[in-house]
Amino acid sequence: MSETNWEQRYLDQDTPWDKGEPAPGLVDWLNNQKLDPNARILVPGCGCGHDAAAWANAGFETTGIDLSELALNQAGERYQAIPGLAFFAGNFLEDKPYEPYDLIFEHTLYCAIDPSRRDEYAQALTRWLKPEGHFLAIHFTFPLTEEGPPFGASREEIIDRFSDSFELIEEWEPRNFQGREREELMFYWKRK
Ligand SMILES: C[S@@+](CC[C@H](N)C(=O)[O-])C[C@H]1O[C@@H](n2cnc3c(N)ncnc32)[C@H](O)[C@@H]1O
Repeated sequence: MSETNWEQRYLDQDTPWDKGEPAPGLVDWLNNQKLDPNARILVPGCGCGHDAAAWANAGFETTGIDLSELALNQAGERYQAIPGLAFFAGNFLEDKPYEPYDLIFEHTLYCAIDPSRRDEYAQALTRWLKPEGHFLAIHFTFPLTEEGPPFGASREEIIDRFSDSFELIEEWEPRNFQGREREELMFYWKRK
C-alpha cells in the first residue's frame, strides 16, 4: 500500500470525508459530557477543523494537528475566532507534544493511515496523552480490504489494539452522517 498524499487530496478538493460539520456522535457526546472543564484536548488528523471547533465551542482548550497545510489554513480561516482553539502542522505518528493532553479525540485518522502503522498509532496515543488521560474514538468497523483509505477495522481488532494501554469504559453505536449508518462504533477509553 502506498502512503496517501493528503495535501494533494485537499488541493484536488477530493475530500469526501469532509462533511463541513462535526461528527454527529461527537456532538451528542459533548452535549452530555462531564469532563473537567480544564481538560486540554487534542484532535489529530483534524482536517478542516470541524471536530476541533466543536470541542472549543464546548469550552475546552483544543489543539488540532494535521499533515496538510492546506487543510489547516482552511481550518484557521473558518474557526480562528473561537477562543481556546489552535491548529498546528504535525505528524501524529512521529512527533511528540510539548505537554501531553488530557483527552485525544479520534475521527477518521485511524482509518486513514496505512494499516501497517496501526501499532505506531497506539504508541503515539501514549506519547501524546497524560497518564490516566482519555481516548474518545469514532471508528469505521467495516472489513479491512486492500483498498483504502478509508481502511476498515473489526471491533475485535480495535479492542485488541488498545487494551494493553487502555481500559475500555464504554462503547456504543453513535448517530452517524448520512451514508455511514451501521459502519461506526464509538469507544471511550482511559489510559492505564
Ligand atoms: C480522512 S481525513 C479526515 C479529516 C478529519 N478528521 C475529518 O473527519 O474531516 C484524514 C486526515 O488525517 C491527516 N493525516 C494523515 N496522516 C496523518 C498523520 N500521521 N498525522 C497527522 N495528520 C494526518 C490527513 O492530512 C487528513 O486531513
